[in-house]
Amino acid sequence: MSKPKVLIVFYSRAGSTETLANAIAQGAIAEGAEVRLRRARELVSHEVMLQAPGWYDSAEVMNAKYERPSEADAEWADAIIFGTPTRFGSIASELKAYIDSLGGLWFAGKLNGKVGSVFGATSSRHGGNEATLLSIYGPMAHLGLIIVPLGYADPAMFKAGTPYGATHVSNRDTLTPDEDHLAVAQFQGRRVASVAKSLRCPQRVTEAA
Ligand SMILES: Cc1cc2nc3c(=O)[nH]c(=O)nc-3n(C[C@H](O)[C@H](O)[C@H](O)COP(=O)(O)O)c2cc1C
Repeated sequence: MSKPKVLIVFYSRAGSTETLANAIAQGAIAEGAEVRLRRARELVSHEVMLQAPGWYDSAEVMNAKYERPSEADAEWADAIIFGTPTRFGSIASELKAYIDSLGGLWFAGKLNGKVGSVFGATSSRHGGNEATLLSIYGPMAHLGLIIVPLGYADPAMFKAGTPYGATHVSNRDTLTPDEDHLAVAQFQGRRVASVAKSLRCPQRVTEAA
């Protein structure tokens, strides 16, 4: 019996997006998925990272926990869930570099029909969370992914998050996602895994019926 395979690929510096990623993984696993959690790597030198307090150290800790995302991960996945902190109202360059590295798979048509979804974090309440998530809808469409939003398809959506994907407002990295925001992230994991199961593992759905 095949399990839906979910790749959660995120960038995070201060941990908010990482926390959402883990909650999404919990949701996907609860729905029967096999999950790979990957952290996109920095693009700048150590010298540049050391100029921002805590950046180098947090990257070291997270890079020890999560493998670097690869082309093989995207090919393996039935669903890809992208996570990013907002950078000037848009996607972090570290995650975008990973998306851009998928050009070979795109050219070969190997991403067509996989499921795609997004989540993210900002510092301020109106700092661009929704704009950032929507900025990734474009690349997902180009890659041929079937985009799965959250809508208001779960009671959790009436307390937190956005219809476009799970979010968090960190208030200059002083707040971690609360239980309402984690509930949205878990719902995102369940929902994406459930759609991937139907679209990509039809034999499993038939067996369960
Ligand atoms: C270069 C840069 C640009 C940023 N731009 C924004 C922004 O436009 N709006 C916002 O609210 N936060 C912005 N932030 C803050 C992060 O998005 C925010 O701290 C987020 O919670 C970090 O997520 P993380 O804990 O996963 O690293 C920016 C941070 C950096 C370093």
